[in-house]
Parts: sequence; C-alpha cells; structure tokens
Amino acid sequence: MRIVHYPHPALRHPAASVTNIDKRLRRQVGEMFELMYDAKGLGLAAPQVAMPVQLLVMNVEGDPSRKDAERVYVNPVITKRQGTLDGDEGCLSFPGLYAKVKRAKRITVQAYDLEGKLVTVEAADLEARAWQHEIDHLNGVLFIDKFATLAKLTRGKDIRAFENAFRAAQERGDIPKDAEIERTLHALERELTSSS
Ligand code: CO
Repeated sequence: MRIVHYPHPALRHPAASVTNIDKRLRRQVGEMFELMYDAKGLGLAAPQVAMPVQLLVMNVEGDPSRKDAERVYVNPVITKRQGTLDGDEGCLSFPGLYAKVKRAKRITVQAYDLEGKLVTVEAADLEARAWQHEIDHLNGVLFIDKFATLAKLTRGKDIRAFENAFRAAQERGDIPKDAEIERTLHALERELTSSS
C-alpha cells in the first residue's frame, strides 16, 4: 500500500460503500494510519491508497502518540453545514502544494465506526475542514477543484508539474497505464464490496 499522487485515476474514481467490516479492512486501516503519519498528514481517504471504498482515517492532532485523537469512519455523509471558513489546505496526494480553500466552518457528519455503529459527529474549524476534504476524496473530488480563481491561476504550473511527473513515470513503466489502473480498481471494488 502506498499513497498515490495526482493525477492517479484512483483519485477520481467514486468510492463504493463499505458493506463488510472485516479483519482485512482493519489491517488496511492500520496501514493507512502508518502512511498518514509518515507523510505528516492529518487525514487519509482510502482512494488515496488506491482502495475504491468509503473509508477514511483522521488524527487532527497529527501526532502518532495521540491515539485518542485517531478516528476511523466508513460511509460518511455530511448532513449539515454552517458558516464559512477560509484557510490554507494541503493534500497528501499533492505533496508540497498548499492553497486557500473555502469550507463550511461547522459540519455534522453521519458515519459508521469500525464496530459498525452509526455515529453522529459535530466538528468545527480545522476538524471540519479535514472531514470535508476527506469526504470529498470519497466522491472523487479534489481540493484543487475548490481553489479560488486566484489560486487556480497561481497554482496552475504546480498542478501541471504533478501531471507531467505522473505521465513521465507511466512512460518509464514505473506506474501502469490509466486503462490498466481502471481495470484494477474495478476488480478491487468487486472484491472489497462482495461479502465473504
Ligand atoms: Co487529500
């Protein structure tokens, strides 16, 4: 498992609902936390590790020793948004890229925890931003889609640099071609959502 970078097709592939919380999913959650901490992130969504399912992990403290701040949710839905919050945002699939993104200041989320229990979470500020960013990932939406006009202009070169690096890696054969990645994603989706 590794974090994929834009424009990897997994980042645009809408994630399927989790139907089965099993041992394998729990192991994948552990690996996602490790990758997130190694990359100094606050959140990571399954599509960012090329897993096309509605699963995300978060630790808004960004501190591996703060296990109490670790959150894992499946099939999350934002049920309420209030206010707006403008602030800098980054993404582990765009290392080094930061820009202002407008988000709701407070949100309410309904999701399932790893025990399969439906929970309602209220979050504000940084935590609300993390939720909105990660839930977007589950719908194939990226933070660059939400850049303000100015950020789109000033960060355009950086975004193209990610695209060029990715295509060059594909040319070298380090990363499979898009069509092959799509086939793998569809196979994984069938595998991850079939009850075993
Ligand atoms: Co992200």
